[in-house]
Amino acid sequence: APRFKWTKRVLKGSAAVGLAVFAWTVYESRHPLPQFEWDHSKETIAILGTGWGSTSLLKDLDTENYNVVLVSPRAYFLFTPLLPSSTVGTVELRSIMQPIRFLTRFKRREILYVEGNCTNIDPTKKVITVEDSSEIQGAVSKSEIKYDYLVVGVGAENATFGIPGVKENACFLKEAWDARRIRTQLLDCLESATFPGQPESEINRLLHMVVVGGGPTGVEYAAELHDFLNDDIQTWYPDIAGKFKITLVEATPHVLGMFPKDLIQYTERTFAENKVEILNNTMVKEVHQKDILVLNKDKELETIPFGLLVWATGNTARPLVSDLISKLPKDLQNQRRGLVVDDWLAVKGSKGSIYALGDCSATKWAPTAQVASRQGAYLAEQFAQLYALKREKSKFVEEGNKPEEFVQKLQPFVYNHQGSLAYVGGDKAIADLPFGIHLSGAMTYLFWRSAYMSNLFSLRNRVLVGFDWLKAKTFGRDISRE
Ligand code: NAI
Repeated sequence: APRFKWTKRVLKGSAAVGLAVFAWTVYESRHPLPQFEWDHSKETIAILGTGWGSTSLLKDLDTENYNVVLVSPRAYFLFTPLLPSSTVGTVELRSIMQPIRFLTRFKRREILYVEGNCTNIDPTKKVITVEDSSEIQGAVSKSEIKYDYLVVGVGAENATFGIPGVKENACFLKEAWDARRIRTQLLDCLESATFPGQPESEINRLLHMVVVGGGPTGVEYAAELHDFLNDDIQTWYPDIAGKFKITLVEATPHVLGMFPKDLIQYTERTFAENKVEILNNTMVKEVHQKDILVLNKDKELETIPFGLLVWATGNTARPLVSDLISKLPKDLQNQRRGLVVDDWLAVKGSKGSIYALGDCSATKWAPTAQVASRQGAYLAEQFAQLYALKREKSKFVEEGNKPEEFVQKLQPFVYNHQGSLAYVGGDKAIADLPFGIHLSGAMTYLFWRSAYMSNLFSLRNRVLVGFDWLKAKTFGRDISRE
């Protein structure tokens, strides 16, 4: 009995401490301290983008040493790994978004955030042009900003390989508005299929969900669709649920090309069990309003009708990035997919004034959130080192030494891969971890969930996503179309 009493006390104590920490974190998140003003004696870093790379840099950057301008048309950070979940309402979009001012307001020095697009970079004058492309604009909607250092973290855009009709007729899955569009159109397909007098062929077309691209984005989206069908469509649309069909089209012999063989086989087996059809060795050639033309595995042209088409065939460089590449020496910038950087993430040919990170840079690493995030943290550390080195150098010169004799000792970027995860549907996931560890199944799904939960941006995001998961399990997903 005394031991039980002690256990009870320890439990009570831990709960009280946990609650106090939670309350303090919430209080702190609502009460930012006053910030230092802009200091004209300090150098200015302009950061482009609010994605994984730029946000990670901003999070760790010591703003006491620099002035910072942040430019992005997206005033929030988006937790992209859960974007496929938001297309069917497993999580709500706003739960995986974090307003960028919730971060900038907590930095030591005021940050100038500009909601707009950087439309031009002049690497010679060290000036960027920013334009407000939003719906509501004031008297000024275009401006030029000078920088000492520029960090390009603008990501990439969806690759279409010039295939006709993709942009006009398919949905992408990269941004919050893409996920919102998919959710609305998916529910529209369901309602239109139940419209009185709808011919059988139209019902089948409207309920055919086609996903192009068997990379992790396409696979995870197809997996979420399957769950939506099983958990919700079966209940709320019993008459048509049996006609709902999911097809994943992949140009190469297998989906998830970057995963090990056993995990690819596991995914393809799970999809087969879940009745999600995979069309491997099938290349989309044209996209029309209601169907796609493919070259199938027998090298024959075939038309596949669809109700909703999601296009997830990877990345290509944004026009801003291609334009910057064209302004730098051709022998140093020879990659179309992005900016070539050195071991310190400095853009080659920019004389150390421009850095690039994430999907807009061309490196030996895959264009993943994990890489971009590590690069951002590294750059923050590098800017701190750079500041310290500059001070050391001026002291060195003051002591009568030649500036060229000062050797800079910045550490190059090193990337340690922590592993890749993907959700494959039916509460199952796969994990390709370091040291050749491959996991799959329901336990891996729990691991997937906890990994994503702990990687979410803030306590606020964690609470919201936690509630969304609970809500979807308890009451089902919301099937109303906004
Ligand atoms: P991806 O580049 O990984 O995959 C695109 C797929 O589309 C390829 O398998 C390609 O063969 C196929 N494809 C291309 N053109 C086609 C056509 N005309 N017809 C049919 N199929 C075609 O793209 P994704 O999935 O958007 O991923 C981008 C990057 O982000 C990758 O590096 C990926 O590893 C990473 N990522 C990782 C995630 C994870 O680890 N869970 C989640 C999402 C993305």
